Amino acid sequence: MKVDGTPTRAIWRDGARVCFIDQTRLPHRVALIRAGTVERMARAIVDMQVRGAPLIGAAAGYGVALAMQQDPSDAGLEAALRVLGATRPTAVNLQWALRRQRNRLAGVAPERRASTAWMVAAQIADEDVATNAAIGRHGLELIRALLPRGPRINLLTHCNAGWLATVDGGTALAPVYAAHDAGLDIHVWVDETRPRNQGAALTAWELGQHGVPHTVIADNAGGHLMQRGEVDAVIVGADRIAANGDVANKIGTYLKALAAHDNAVPFWVAAPVSTLDATIQTGVGSIPIENRDADELRWMAGVDNSGRRRRVRVTPDASPGHNPAFDVTPARLVSRIITEQGAVPASKDGIARAILGKAEAVRNHTSVSGSKPS
Ligand code: MRU
Repeated sequence: MKVDGTPTRAIWRDGARVCFIDQTRLPHRVALIRAGTVERMARAIVDMQVRGAPLIGAAAGYGVALAMQQDPSDAGLEAALRVLGATRPTAVNLQWALRRQRNRLAGVAPERRASTAWMVAAQIADEDVATNAAIGRHGLELIRALLPRGPRINLLTHCNAGWLATVDGGTALAPVYAAHDAGLDIHVWVDETRPRNQGAALTAWELGQHGVPHTVIADNAGGHLMQRGEVDAVIVGADRIAANGDVANKIGTYLKALAAHDNAVPFWVAAPVSTLDATIQTGVGSIPIENRDADELRWMAGVDNSGRRRRVRVTPDASPGHNPAFDVTPARLVSRIITEQGAVPASKDGIARAILGKAEAVRNHTSVSGSKPS
């Protein structure tokens, strides 16, 4: 993606450090962070300076590389996996990336672990980019099928599942960018996504950087727009998808899915196969849901007219808050899951098909990246 015209990833290696965009400063400032230790990387994930399921996975991969520079012993590796593994519970990509590093590093001598871990981290990042391009292509076909309703196609998205939530390209926004680049007249309704406003701050910013027409709406406006025929499809990302197709994503996704179902609006979920968790049979009650500090709800951050950062409280001082960060949308409300293996039904068969397809592609060395993941 381009930031002010310059091609930029959300995370990359910079010598012995890992560089990434501080997403807590967007949309008002593009600030970079250079992390030199696994502890700094873990803090960035907890504080959501990097966030979004695939990017959390990539950041964890890079975090292990930093740790192996610090202490490549078995104890150092286990400590790194522990500290990174404890950062955020819902996005399964985190555990997936750590497992991949652990499997690869287990048989490697300590003196070669840092270089190997950097290589694995780079593979995870590069594969993410290729995966998202494939998701974009498959999603574009679904968008094209909406054209008879057109000429303008109105999509609605929740949270940020764009390039900022990945290494590059995005998941839910990959088909949007593909459609825009293909010359389709596309417009995106952007849910603000309280409490942290990933839609208003991040999705709106990156769509603007790419020149995609969009409009920010209050979280509760989606149902109203759907009733009026002003939404042709909903497209969101996912943090974890259970074996039966239940989808965990940013809090509020479930309500959008209910409204979409009630109004016969297609509800698409775009996610890489690394977000599918075949070890969990059903999502509701089984996928761990992160509870975040209620102050995220009670306070809002932004800039004032002079551009100065401000944090203001929006609730009575004494009112407690409750801040679950994700919810689970049952598979029956999901029209399609768009993976790099194609768009599959949100069902046991569909999920199994995507996982098997990916495994076969990896076996045949024909994964989307063209290189066999370690
Ligand atoms: O809490 P966040 O900002 O990490 O939550 C992000 C989301 O819910 C995204 O929709 C999801 O991770 C998919 S990102 C491609």
